[in-house]
Amino acid sequence: MLPLYKIILCHILNPKSDKSCEFIKNGALVLKRSKDGYKVLEIGKEKSILPKYNAKRSIEVMDTLGKVCMPSFFDTHFHWVQDDVRLMPKKNLLQWLINYTWPYEAKFKDKGYSKDKAQKFANELVSVGTLGGACYASIHAHTADDALKYFVGDFVVGNVLMTMESPDYLTQTKKQAIALVKKQTEKFKNKYALTPRFAPTTHPDVMIESSKFAKKNKSFIQTHLSETTNEIEYVLGLYSKIKGYEKIKTYTDIYKKAKMLGPKTIMGHGIYLSDAELKTLSNTKTSIAHCPTSNAPVKQLGLGSGLFNFKKAEKYKIHWSLASDIGGGPFVSMFDVMQSFVSQNAKAKVSGATYTKALFRATVAGAQALKLSKTHGSLDSGKFANFILVNAPKNLGDKSEEVLSQIISKNKNKRASYDNMVEQTFYKGECVFIR
Ligand code: GUN
Ligand code: FE
Repeated sequence: MLPLYKIILCHILNPKSDKSCEFIKNGALVLKRSKDGYKVLEIGKEKSILPKYNAKRSIEVMDTLGKVCMPSFFDTHFHWVQDDVRLMPKKNLLQWLINYTWPYEAKFKDKGYSKDKAQKFANELVSVGTLGGACYASIHAHTADDALKYFVGDFVVGNVLMTMESPDYLTQTKKQAIALVKKQTEKFKNKYALTPRFAPTTHPDVMIESSKFAKKNKSFIQTHLSETTNEIEYVLGLYSKIKGYEKIKTYTDIYKKAKMLGPKTIMGHGIYLSDAELKTLSNTKTSIAHCPTSNAPVKQLGLGSGLFNFKKAEKYKIHWSLASDIGGGPFVSMFDVMQSFVSQNAKAKVSGATYTKALFRATVAGAQALKLSKTHGSLDSGKFANFILVNAPKNLGDKSEEVLSQIISKNKNKRASYDNMVEQTFYKGECVFIR
């Protein structure tokens, strides 16, 4: 029989907002079993918590002092079928897609290959502490099935839809694309996200028809928007020749016309948006997944797309969260994503891009984007016990921003090490990964 209570002794970081993160040195995280799994009952100082539970039966105490606990991550935009193109040569988005990404995604037509890769990627996710997010699979139905079968945590997944401007080996008919969305939504309900790859590769008829269906089923919708200036020129040029779209002025308007925007829609990137577009996203409560490592300069292993203006997005009250955009982003760990967000903004002399903000946007904000923040995203009482343990830094600081900086900036010059930082990952209070 599983114990009714679990107490984990550790230092605790609990994100509260962009500006605040609770930090409890020598803390205790108390979990209580419920029918759905362990939830956080309370957190506090070890000294005040332990005596309260002394007399309780059915209790397991885990002494992990020397470790820091924080909520597990949400990655709100990644392509699980791009694990092997993360570190391939990058010059710019469109060339990288054509030369590396699409030929690689085509391999997933093979069911055995997809299954092996999904199991491997599922292990990568738990090992970096990512237990939720919004994920792109390839056009092949079974790649979404495999992700939903093997990933541990709370993910929505969709097959990219590619009906035009794509290589023959990776192109569906309009009919096939629409039928795929219907079949998968019936099978996976709200875990299936409508995922037109982006306006250039997905005919507007497909976007219109499938988003009608997705909205009716209250499904999430995800796609790419305004990632690079070349891409915007390409999209607008292409749509100026499509009947009914001759007068379209902006990239966002294409998705708006397809009725794809809304509170359950997550747009990847959104770097180059006019004020009118920002207003549209805000009015429709559409969320943005910001992918700093993917957008970073080529020298930093990104696609060199540009820097997302989070201040402007916030001025327009647009919700945004952090994401890796694997394989545009080179590393799966959200620690690497957080560091890149902090470093790039510091270099550009943009204030406010703190580690505290980065943690909030990689946890709570991700849960908000997926409409899970009542039960996920932090260590607040009542939420699921989804968390990671990392080694405490030497000379552990007293303030959360300092502690987060000690933990995260440590690997900034050896980025591949971010993937090895998590010592243990817990999902609903059960250990799902131990190093
Ligand atoms: N735009 C369309 N497809 C993709 C993709 O696979 N990755 C990125 N970063 N942008 C895209
Ligand atoms: Fe992407």
